[in-house]
Amino acid sequence: MASFQKIVAMFFAGSVALAMGSAPAMAGMGTAKPNPHNPCGAMAKNPCTAKGKIDAKRLTRPAGTHLMKGRHRVLVKEGRRLWHDKSLSTNGLSCNSCHHNHAAFRATFAKPYPHYVAMPHQQAGMKKVSLDEMIQFCMVSPMAAKPLPWNSRKLAALTAYTETVQKSFKPPVGGMKGKNPCHPGAMEKMHNPCHPKMVNPCAPKAANPCAPKH
Ligand code: HEC
Repeated sequence: MASFQKIVAMFFAGSVALAMGSAPAMAGMGTAKPNPHNPCGAMAKNPCTAKGKIDAKRLTRPAGTHLMKGRHRVLVKEGRRLWHDKSLSTNGLSCNSCHHNHAAFRATFAKPYPHYVAMPHQQAGMKKVSLDEMIQFCMVSPMAAKPLPWNSRKLAALTAYTETVQKSFKPPVGGMKGKNPCHPGAMEKMHNPCHPKMVNPCAPKAANPCAPKH
């Protein structure tokens, strides 16, 4: 469990670094000895350094195609199962590994789709994503897998279930928790890239974007 939490924490440390453009505390992280348990450690497969490396075409719904239709309640049920299914990824993670209890979502998740999301913008240059495209992004980047077939029942089911997750997502009052990865309540301890045990992009150093302004 501990090493798994580290994986997730490392992922966040990486995505925070990307979100900030450059984070001095992250410098040299890519040259550290690759940790086989860390999806962000092996450079070739590192979802945290994949900036601009994902072809947006793989994540963009092909014109004229649609989500598979089905009975909504059944799709939601199937989607909930897939949400916990580690076999969808190649790195032992499920959607729930990162998104349990709304973890990892930022304020954009509260907006109706399509909308801007930071990571697909940074890693694939996409200005906006629909919900199914966002799911495909998480399949390819954090889950290190292939996109699901666009007309598949799996994608329709995951989309239906994620819609229900979105409905219960409330961006925190004032937007602090959702926007600020350094806010004390932002994430649970081990999911928190600012936790002292993690590679800490928020450490009080020169040019620290998270340091309190005087
Ligand atoms: C290794 C961690 C990780 C895994 C596994 C993961 N995600 Fe994500 N996901 C993230 C992060 C980090 C973000 C925040 C991206 C941002 O705001 O730029 C995110 C954001 C999202 C969003 C919200 C984007 C928005 O509108 O703001 C959705 C929806 C989503 N993920 C769905 C999924 C689904 C479905 C799966 C499983 C197929 C999955 N994720 C697996 C890390 C992960």
